[in-house]
Amino acid sequence: MSDKPNLVADLTPLPKNPPVPGRRVYVETYGCQMNTYDSQVIVGKLEAVGFAKVDDHHDADLVLLNTCSVRDQAEHRVISRVGELRTMHEKAGKAPVVMGVCGCMAERMRDDLMKQKHRVDLIIGVDSYDQLPDLALAQIDGPEATPEMAVGHDTEIHHVAPIEAYPTNNSHLVTIHKGCDYKCTYCIVPYTRGPQSEKRPGIILDEIRRIVDKGGEEVTLLGQNVTAYKWEDQLDFAGLLEQVAKLDGLKRIRFLTGHPCDMHEHLMDLIGQESTICPWLHIPAQSGSDRVLRRMKRYYKRDEYLHMVEYARKVIPDVTFSGDFIVGFPGETDADFQETLTFLHEVRNDAIFSFRYSERPGVPAVKMGDDVTLEVKKARLAELMAVQEGIWTSIADAQIGQEWLGVVEQPARKPEGHWRLRTANNRKIIVPLDQAQPGAELRVKITGWQNTAFLGKVLG
Ligand code: SAH
Ligand code: SF4
Ligand code: F3S
Repeated sequence: MSDKPNLVADLTPLPKNPPVPGRRVYVETYGCQMNTYDSQVIVGKLEAVGFAKVDDHHDADLVLLNTCSVRDQAEHRVISRVGELRTMHEKAGKAPVVMGVCGCMAERMRDDLMKQKHRVDLIIGVDSYDQLPDLALAQIDGPEATPEMAVGHDTEIHHVAPIEAYPTNNSHLVTIHKGCDYKCTYCIVPYTRGPQSEKRPGIILDEIRRIVDKGGEEVTLLGQNVTAYKWEDQLDFAGLLEQVAKLDGLKRIRFLTGHPCDMHEHLMDLIGQESTICPWLHIPAQSGSDRVLRRMKRYYKRDEYLHMVEYARKVIPDVTFSGDFIVGFPGETDADFQETLTFLHEVRNDAIFSFRYSERPGVPAVKMGDDVTLEVKKARLAELMAVQEGIWTSIADAQIGQEWLGVVEQPARKPEGHWRLRTANNRKIIVPLDQAQPGAELRVKITGWQNTAFLGKVLG
C-alpha cells in the first residue's frame, strides 16, 4: 500500500453550478452498485460545470451509458442500446447527441469501442471521470471530432459521490475500496476495475458523517470484496466497521459484497454484537463442489463455507444469507452440480443470484475451454432456481405469525394503498398503509408472503 495521501480533488463535493443551455446529460446505469455510486459521481462532476440531469434521453445533449462487462450478454445489451438510442434520436429529428460509454466496458473494450461502427464519441474508464467534463464539452462543441478515450487504472484516485444525490431506498451507498486482487479464474472485474486499493478510513468516515448530517440513517459499504478491506496493515474490515458503527446518528450499516474466505470469526462476532450492523450476509459461494471451487480459484472449500454459515447462525441473531452461483463452469460435471444443489439445502439462503457461465476474453478460465453446452447450462440453471424456490418457500412459510421491525422504504408498486418496508436482515414486507414516512420504524406482524416479499399488518 502506498503512503501517498489518496487525497484527490473531489473529496468535498464540487459545487453545483447553474445549468448552462446545451448541457443536459442523461445517464443509464448497468451492472453492480459500484456503478450506481459512480454514476452519482459522474453526474456531480458534470453538474459542477453547468450540466443539468434529465430523465428523458430525447432531451439530452450528452447520453452516457455506465456499463458492465461481467457477462457477454451485459455487453451485447449496451452495444445494441447505443444503436437504439441513436435511431430514436434520428427518428425524433434531433441533432446528433454526444454518446459516451463509461465504466467496465470502456476499460475492457477500449480501442474496439473507438471503431466507427459502434458510433460512440466518448470512452471513459472507471478511474478517468475527472476528465469527463472537459472531454464531453469538447465533443459537444465540436461535432465533427473523432472519439475521445480516457482509460487505465490509477490506485490513488478514489471518488466521493455528492451526498445529496441519494438515496436508493434508505441506504446511502459508500464505496470503501475499488478493484480486486482475488482473480477468480472466470472473472473480468480485476481487469476492468484494476488492483484492490483502499479509500482512506478518514475519508470514508467523513463521507458517512456528511450523509448523517444531511439526514441519512443507513449506509451500505461497497466494494467487490469489502471484507478484504485493509488499511496499511492497521485496520481490517472489522476494524473499519467498528469505527463506522460508533458514528452518532447512524442507524443501520450494510455491506456488499463479502468473500467467504474473509469472513473471520471476529468479524462475525462484531456483526452479532453491534446492533447497528445489519444481520444480512451476501456472501457469494459460486459452487458447492470443491473441485469446481478449486478450478475457480475461490480459496475456500465447501465445508469451510458451511462452517462460516454455522458460526454466523450461532453468533448473529436473526442472520439471513444470500449469494451468487455460476452454473456450467468449465469442466462442471453432473456430480459437481448435484453438490451445488445439496449445498443449497444446507445453507438455506433467502435469495440467490444465479448465472450461466459466460466466457470472458483474457481471463484464466479461457484455457479450460467452455465445454458445458448451452442446453446443459440452461437446464442446470432452471433446476438450481427450482431448488432455491422450494427452500425459500419453506423459509417463508415458517415466518408467518412472527413480529418484526421494518423500516419504511417507499410505496409498493402494487397493490395500491400499500407500502414496502425492509427489515435489518433484508426481508421486504408489504403492508397496507395510507401514509408513511420513509425511514420510520414500524412493528409488523407477518401474515403471509408472495414471491420475494412478506405480507404483514402494522401493529399498534
Ligand atoms: N465480487 C463479488 C461479485 C462479482 S460479480 C464476488 O466476489 O462474488 C457478481 C457475480 O457475477 C459473481 O458473484 C458471479 O456469480 C457472477 N459472475 C462473474 N463472472 C462471471 C462469468 N464469467 N460468468 C457468469 N457469471 C459470472
Ligand atoms: Fe471477481 Fe472473484 Fe474478485 Fe469477486 S472476488 S470481483 S468474483 S475476481
Ligand atoms: Fe459489472 Fe464492472 Fe460491476 S464488470 S459487476 S459493473 S465491477
